[in-house]
Amino acid sequence: MKLCGKSVLLVVSGGIAAYKALELIRLLRKEGAGVRCILTAAARQFVTPLSVSALSEEKVYGELFSLTDEAEMGHIQLSRSADLVVVAPATADLLAKLTHGLADDLASTALLATDKPVLAAPAMNVRMWQHPATQANLASLRQRGTLFVGPDEGAMACGEFGPGRMAEPAAILEAVEAFFAPAARPLQGRRALVTSGPTYEPIDPVRFIGNRSSGKQGHAIAAALAAAGAQVTLVSGPVALPDPPGVDVRRVETAAEMLEACRASLPADVAVCAAAVADWRVAASAPQKLKKGPGGPPALTFAENPDILATLSQPGPQRPRLVVGFAAETERVVEQATAKRLRKGCDWILANDVSPATGTFGGDSNLIHLIDARGSESWPVLSKAAVAERLAGRIAATLAEAEENVSS
Ligand code: C5P
Repeated sequence: MKLCGKSVLLVVSGGIAAYKALELIRLLRKEGAGVRCILTAAARQFVTPLSVSALSEEKVYGELFSLTDEAEMGHIQLSRSADLVVVAPATADLLAKLTHGLADDLASTALLATDKPVLAAPAMNVRMWQHPATQANLASLRQRGTLFVGPDEGAMACGEFGPGRMAEPAAILEAVEAFFAPAARPLQGRRALVTSGPTYEPIDPVRFIGNRSSGKQGHAIAAALAAAGAQVTLVSGPVALPDPPGVDVRRVETAAEMLEACRASLPADVAVCAAAVADWRVAASAPQKLKKGPGGPPALTFAENPDILATLSQPGPQRPRLVVGFAAETERVVEQATAKRLRKGCDWILANDVSPATGTFGGDSNLIHLIDARGSESWPVLSKAAVAERLAGRIAATLAEAEENVSS
């Protein structure tokens, strides 16, 4: 029983493959998963709520404005009550709705409202599958983190041949099991806090002091931690990046707001501070736009910003078990980063060698030295996504080790 204790919300949309959803429910139940089902109006033309209810041993949901359903479980709660949302079959229509955020029935509303990952098993006619509109929708959903299984290629109910057949229930079950496999989600049940991007410190209502941080590394870390199963809050300054899938994003502008948002998202098992926080803010930003005048340019007085990494690292009951900071250095990288680790009180520093000789400055790859209490370790030049994945793996291993030490 590989899925014991897991719960799946199965959305069945209306295609001939809906009959295979019955077998999928049976297989999921056999592996110990709890299964709640939503049937679209079209799906009810292919399978009956009675069969679905008998196999899932649960009430079947179908209507957005059902007083009885809402009294028992609101549609928002229904969308979030499961660990994974599976859409099988996922018709071209439902995928299009999901892509564009339409919510005109219970199935599409639940898909829009859920905060859980979505695994879709597309099923449609081969031409519908190959249509540029469907392919564009798939690309956009993939980019947002929707998982897919299938479709298969073969003879279709409509008499045509090609890709579009829904994956077999056994293959969908396998994809669900892979999603829940502990090796694939070593941070399941952990909470993570990540800071990313620059901060903007106002001079007056229209001007600010900022920096060129893109947020790429911090966002990649949030995405990697979420992909490893962690519940991630990403506190981000202004960036031009999409929200990483499955991550709770809090947008802020100033260092003070960033610190407040970080505090509000504690407790966390791990905090990774990748934001480029301004060291200073304008002590008293002007309430009105500053004007040119005979007095000449304004003299700005600065005040020190809070150090978020140092604050999160302070000992106390709210301190995350693991606090990780970054340091961009151009010379004596390990030595300076080692000193920074002690100064800030964090557990690890990822020192990024940005000396001109490395050619990594501002690029998409990083040359990292990981510094901890025991010393330093150098990583090869890696893309920011690969740095994030490697870091997520290290975090998972370290948290698991710490737990073992406590329990032994
Ligand atoms: O002191 P420095 O800015 O070089 O330190 C970099 C590290 O400290 C990064 O992890 C950055 O996110 C964090 N930091 C912070 N708050 C500040 C300044 C830096 O969290 N005010």
